[in-house]
Amino acid sequence: VKSAGILGMGIYVPEKIMTNLDFEKELDTSDEWIKSRTGIEERRFVADDQATSDLASEASKKALESAGMKPEDIDMVILATCTPDYLIQNTACIVQKKIGAVNAAAFDIQAACSGFVYGLTIASGMIKAGMYKKILVIGAEALSRVVDMQDRNTCILFGDGAAAAVVGEVEEGYGILSSYIKSEGEDDEILRMPAGGTKRPATIEEVENRETFLKMKGQDVFKFAVQALPKATREALKLAGKETTDLHMVFPHQANKRIIESAAKRLKIPVDKFYINLNKFGNTSAASIGLALGEALEKGLVKKGDVIALTGFGAGLTYGSAVIKW
Ligand code: ACO
Repeated sequence: VKSAGILGMGIYVPEKIMTNLDFEKELDTSDEWIKSRTGIEERRFVADDQATSDLASEASKKALESAGMKPEDIDMVILATCTPDYLIQNTACIVQKKIGAVNAAAFDIQAACSGFVYGLTIASGMIKAGMYKKILVIGAEALSRVVDMQDRNTCILFGDGAAAAVVGEVEEGYGILSSYIKSEGEDDEILRMPAGGTKRPATIEEVENRETFLKMKGQDVFKFAVQALPKATREALKLAGKETTDLHMVFPHQANKRIIESAAKRLKIPVDKFYINLNKFGNTSAASIGLALGEALEKGLVKKGDVIALTGFGAGLTYGSAVIKW
């Protein structure tokens, strides 16, 4: 197989809307602060009886429909998430059961907000190698479950949602032209949930000290992101033999409007080529790039032959970019 690409996409967000004003009522923050520092106006939170697998399954069903496929056609499910339903039993298997993808191998990957790009990279490789034919790549998160609602530095940033793509063989010269993924594990205390894993189990003390919630050094992430976004995009373009001027649109990880504006400037790409929907959904980590692309496709903004870049960065630290000819 020479070329692998996206055959269909689906997105899903939970119904419950959390506005900046909802946070203003509970915390020492303001709509004005959140909007001006991040660009976020509202985000979605899962209902009490929903988890990551529910969002992932809804997005997956839509992706299958858009690709004109049945769940039995899928031979691999790759779910990117940092908020799995459980620590043990991967969430991809729960999705497999919920959608009826009975013929698939299913596993999770954890590359935080770069997860969707990492997932597409694995899928593309597997298909080009001829080992699998139809791979469902999902980015899904229920971050509202792991943010500290008393910590104004983090809780206002994140939201819940899911995006899924069916990846398979496409016409030669189209599809995922290149991908560049990279990690920097040295900076390992910038973004982490300290307790709840095997290093620091969720003891009563850890829970009481709120260590089972996500902690972040926001400015350090910011500094990393404004370098990583342009670097990954440039490297992926180089591998694809393309220039920044070839890009019809860029789908960046939706963390902060200021990060995207800075990356646009560094890449010398007009900022209006960067698709932004973080105002409505906040930072949905592994789901965010897919949520942006899926929404743009629904609006008819990407057409056959358009060259686009999907670029992410996140905890780990991880980053990566994929260049796709639609
Ligand atoms: N409301 C009001 N004030 C606040 C809030 C809030 N919600 N949050 C922080 N502040 C205060 C701070 O306490 C600080 O006050 P001080 O000066 O009295 O100490 C002041 O605002 C400025 O804080 P900074 O951290 O300097 O604000 P900054 O402009 O850097 O914006 C932000 C903070 C939005 C977090 C920014 O650093 C950012 O977006 N960083 C990247 C975060 C990110 O992308 N994370 C996700 C990575 S993806 C993943 O893998 C999950």
